[in-house]
Amino acid sequence: MKNITEALMWRYATKKFDTNKKLNDEALNQILEAGRLSPSSFGLQPWKFILVENTELRAKLREAGYDQAQITEASHVLIIASRNDLSEDYVDNYMKSTALAQNVTVDTLSEFKSYLMNTISSKPNAEVIKNWNARQVYISLGIMLETAALLEVDTCPMEGFENAKYDELLGLNELGYSSVVMLTLGYRDESDESLKRAKSRFGTEEIIIRK
Ligand SMILES: Cc1cc2nc3c(=O)[nH]c(=O)nc-3n(C[C@H](O)[C@H](O)[C@H](O)COP(=O)(O)O)c2cc1C
Repeated sequence: MKNITEALMWRYATKKFDTNKKLNDEALNQILEAGRLSPSSFGLQPWKFILVENTELRAKLREAGYDQAQITEASHVLIIASRNDLSEDYVDNYMKSTALAQNVTVDTLSEFKSYLMNTISSKPNAEVIKNWNARQVYISLGIMLETAALLEVDTCPMEGFENAKYDELLGLNELGYSSVVMLTLGYRDESDESLKRAKSRFGTEEIIIRK
């Protein structure tokens, strides 16, 4: 396995995937597990990971994704969606899941729940909550990108798609979720033009501020 820096240098936003190479279940499951285990504010996990295997659906997603080739050519396509709201029902469900994991009764979590509900109701409007949820999604995206790189699985994170169309195609409106970002996964085609370009990043001294 590559070390972390080697893996991060190796990874790049893959434009051309090898259509003959498929991810095996073990690699795919490890990447999905990295997403599931990602941290989120208060641990609320306001996300769903939609793995699209249906080829007709992938063709439609490509159409609504500015015809980007990765959407049909990558081995796998994952759309990450975030919750539109944070209802008390949702919080209660999270409390139940936490109580189960920690082998305690839900009652012992009542202070945590009150604190959480107060924080949610202190947000000025529904849009702020929706945006807060959407930001959490990027943490899981980042962790999945790095996990994939460590497993030498290629990826392209993608925001270039029509969100409303994706929500409709994936039935997200009914679930109360909205599409945020997509992750295409697979193996690079060595003829990918992007491979010829050196990684472009600002220098350490330019972006790290020490006080
Ligand atoms: C949130 C996000 C959205 C992106 N959307 C797209 C996209 O729609 N299509 C695409 O080809 N690349 C997309 N990229 C890839 C970036 O262009 C790429 O990561 C960046 O240029 C840095 O290059 P590197 O990842 O190869 O090091 C996206 C990257 C991120 C993080």
